[in-house]
Amino acid sequence: METEEEKFDALIDADDRIEPTDWMPENYRKTLIRQIAQHAHSEIIGMQPEGNWLTRAPSLRRKAILTAKVQDEAGHGLYLYGAAETLGTDRSELLDLLHAGRQKYSSIFNYPTLTWADIGAIGWLVDGAAIMNQVPLCRCSFGPYARAMVRICKEESFHQRQGFQIMLTLANGTDAQREMAQDALNRWWWPTVMMFGPADADSPHSEQNMRWGIKRISNDDLRQKFIDATVPQAELLGLTIPDPDLHWDEERETYDIGEIDWDEFWTVVGGNGPCNDDRMATKVGAYNEGEWVREAASAYAIKQAARAKEVAA
Ligand code: 3HC
Repeated sequence: METEEEKFDALIDADDRIEPTDWMPENYRKTLIRQIAQHAHSEIIGMQPEGNWLTRAPSLRRKAILTAKVQDEAGHGLYLYGAAETLGTDRSELLDLLHAGRQKYSSIFNYPTLTWADIGAIGWLVDGAAIMNQVPLCRCSFGPYARAMVRICKEESFHQRQGFQIMLTLANGTDAQREMAQDALNRWWWPTVMMFGPADADSPHSEQNMRWGIKRISNDDLRQKFIDATVPQAELLGLTIPDPDLHWDEERETYDIGEIDWDEFWTVVGGNGPCNDDRMATKVGAYNEGEWVREAASAYAIKQAARAKEVAA
């Protein structure tokens, strides 16, 4: 008689999906809750840098596009909290962990958005990197996460395109606009390269998560795919990647880049980046101010359930 663990291993080996009602190793559950929760936190915190520009968008059309994008990110967070909850956790627990600094969100959202070009750079680079990282997650072994990613990836393509279009408009604009676009690229390039996570050799989770079919492509390989796809786009924009060591390696048919500043990465991940305090203060403040909304929504849900019971009786 096959044990539960043998059934789980057979599903993983057959590249099948693990569903919430299937038996799973406790560490499989734990690492999924960790990753999905931090992914969800990233989507929600990621609304802040772009949200800062909603009232300053240069046209009604740009404001409408940015509003749609920021709303999408909120929805991505809700899908992902929903996927995490199928593993037996509760989003209020996950938010408590985030607010207490015991769960993370992506390093990339701890940098300031200083000009409108930053909104273009975020869409073009950050959402471009997110697509690289999230498309393989559509094949994640855990069903609810993979299915949430399919929906999210469809919306990410719009996010990346609108960002690239902002950069194209600025790069083809006045000298001042072109300089603004180049300045944004100079500030967002390296933090985006870092957001793929530590080098494979320094990644404590990669080996096990790749064995479990959670991580399909390694941090370094995804980083390289992003760089190889994005450098030609920068050339098309007429902008310069801020890396004097960047060069095409004929033999390997890929770009070599300069040294990544891992001290900066771990400083930001450790909570000491340019905007960490501000992001968390805004997040906790909004959560506390929104207490009445959560209370009203649950009171209404209780009332509706009682009414449905009366009608059914
Ligand atoms: N920012 C903050 N922490 C990071 C990080 C980053 N960019 N990259 C890695 N870390 C953390 C990991 O969470 C882990 O810490 P933990 O044990 O406390 O969780 C530690 O550094 C070691 O990293 P590993 O590579 O070993 O960890 P993973 O195997 O989990 O890989 C990951 C990290 C690639 C981010 C993976 O978790 C993942 O693919 N997550 C899902 C995608 C995601 O979260 N993307 C974040 C951005 S969301 C986004 O871009 C939204 C878009 O709409 C803009």
